[in-house]
Amino acid sequence: MLALVARTMARPSGLLKPVAPRKLPGRYFAHQQDLPALPVPPLQQTLDHYLLALEPIVSEEELAHTRALVQDFRKPGGVGDRLQKGLERRARKHDNWLSDWWLRTAYLEYRLPVVVHSSPGVVLPKQDFQDRQGQLRFAAKLIEGALDFKTMIDNETLPVEYLGGKPLCMNQYYQILSSCRIPGPKRDSVVNYARGKKPSTHITVVHNFQFFELDVYCSDGTPLTTDQIFIQLEKIWNTSLQTNKEPIGILTTNHRNSWANAYNNLIKDKTNKESVRSIEKSIFTVCLDAPMPRVSDDVYRSRIYFPLWVVPPCHLSSLSLPQISLQFIVAEDGSCGLVYEHAPAEGPPIVALLDHVVEYTKKPEMVRTPMVPLPMPKKLRFNITPEVKNDIEKAKQNLNIMVQDLDISAIVFHQFGKNFPKSQKISPDAFIQMALQLAYYRMYGQVCATYESASLRMFRLGRTDTIRSASVDSLKFVQAMDGAGKQDHEKAELLRRAAQAHRAYTDMAITGNAIDRHLLGLRLQAIEDLVSMPELFMDTAYAVAMHFNLSTSQARQGQPEKEALKRHNDKTSGTAKTDCVMCFGPVVPDGYGVCYNPMSDHINFAITAFNSCAETNAARMAHYLEKALLDMHQLLQENPKPKL
Ligand code: COA
Repeated sequence: MLALVARTMARPSGLLKPVAPRKLPGRYFAHQQDLPALPVPPLQQTLDHYLLALEPIVSEEELAHTRALVQDFRKPGGVGDRLQKGLERRARKHDNWLSDWWLRTAYLEYRLPVVVHSSPGVVLPKQDFQDRQGQLRFAAKLIEGALDFKTMIDNETLPVEYLGGKPLCMNQYYQILSSCRIPGPKRDSVVNYARGKKPSTHITVVHNFQFFELDVYCSDGTPLTTDQIFIQLEKIWNTSLQTNKEPIGILTTNHRNSWANAYNNLIKDKTNKESVRSIEKSIFTVCLDAPMPRVSDDVYRSRIYFPLWVVPPCHLSSLSLPQISLQFIVAEDGSCGLVYEHAPAEGPPIVALLDHVVEYTKKPEMVRTPMVPLPMPKKLRFNITPEVKNDIEKAKQNLNIMVQDLDISAIVFHQFGKNFPKSQKISPDAFIQMALQLAYYRMYGQVCATYESASLRMFRLGRTDTIRSASVDSLKFVQAMDGAGKQDHEKAELLRRAAQAHRAYTDMAITGNAIDRHLLGLRLQAIEDLVSMPELFMDTAYAVAMHFNLSTSQARQGQPEKEALKRHNDKTSGTAKTDCVMCFGPVVPDGYGVCYNPMSDHINFAITAFNSCAETNAARMAHYLEKALLDMHQLLQENPKPKL
């Protein structure tokens, strides 16, 4: 999702075996094998589209310079040709020519803290409980719901998802549970304990900075019931009433190199090592938090991001350790959500899991479980050596700086949702992207390189490519909108055309023909081949194109095939879409991160920026965005499409 454009140059591949494409058993294996391989787009096509993408964001002179570079690069038998052939060879040898490279450059070699810069958060609607009993009951149901989802993954009964009528790669579902990101001095790694000889059977529960290993399966392999989990959570709560003095989980929020050093310091001690290993192997983590500071419902979403997503201020207990793929957070006052580690998966599988879990928590409890005594969950102990204490202090300071620097505005746009653009025969996603273009243009008088995540899951082991939302057509629309030269019906037509162009780029991206990953591939191929970096990639225009002042994403994607969904819903409660909001940070110091969840009649937005940048302001962007949406709504309503 995040436009973590591979700024880090990759070293030759073959070193990495993190979430290796696994041969999945049975039905999924057959499904995965049937998926097409990600194509390498034709070189000439990418270069033409690259020049088009530059048009709205660079000057005429820069464009002329780049045209000359492209001319040179595309010559038959030239450097572009050679790199393209290298990529095509790679594609013949790998299941997916991109996925390992992408995992490494976008995530594992990315050195900024995962907090803010990489790990997204998802905030759920506030739940209807106000006390500890309610919190533990809800947490117990949530755990049971997540284990139910895990059973569907393990049994391969999870319906295959579809996008535009095409089946999607389901591999990411196999990576999101029992996964953990381990820090390394130059590169992190991801380990997965879902299968193998001894698959994980426990989760980690965190309360008051204290960690517990909670076994969630009975000896016969059946998952614990809500009642049983509730009792176990109560035991944990009652034995961790005092806040631990050292919030050891804070170490994970550091710059990756510092965390890697601190990690090595930490696990020098045998007890610490055992505790760390237990956390690493857990299926997921649940953090039981104190109540959030009281705020009205209106500001709940905005305020909650801080504790839920950025890893909490120190009075809260949800500082897990290390980067477990999934960390649910349930606070005593009904606030809840999750933070996830981005390396193994994009947001959509996580949101699908959340949809299931939230529906599960609404089910009435049918069975009262006989109270067979269960062993006390194991407390994980840590010896805080002076070295570790020092690392914790440094991490506290850094986190504090990051939290102070983060500017967040979350809004629920109530006036309409995706039904309105649909009624106008416009793609809702394209409509929202055009509103973002208009908002940005009104704020800055220019457009910027804009990143929107597009799924590549139509292909085996596919992750994402980029939809470039700033286009020649979007520029024409935003310039016309407030200019004097055009009638309203012309502006409406420009808006429709810009949205159509966006949808066309989306289709190009999801079918593996966008430009960004191809250009990245050519660059990485040059590094692998040890040839000097082509000038095309050293060009100012390339730097501008990769400086995404707007990094945006929708959190959802894909629907189970109708028949599969029907079969699935016959057995379960169905998969209603949770009214959640996802949140992630900007990818450049002077940029915005914008995540949105379009519901039928409203749209949830989370906008982030950095306070240290004088030019950006999340609340101002939110204001301009709302105005853009309303103005576009009015424009279309007053200027209906002429009937032919
Ligand atoms: N007229 C009427 N309806 C239209 C329409 C039109 N011209 N164009 C689209 N629609 C409908 C669609 O049929 C769809 O209907 P549904 O609500 O019944 O499903 C709905 O509008 C939404 O379509 P659209 O807004 O065009 O978006 P999309 O669902 O096709 O999603 C992407 C577009 C880019 C978000 C999606 O393809 C994708 O790649 N998602 C992945 C995002 C991701 O990985 N994010 C990472 C987060 S970490």
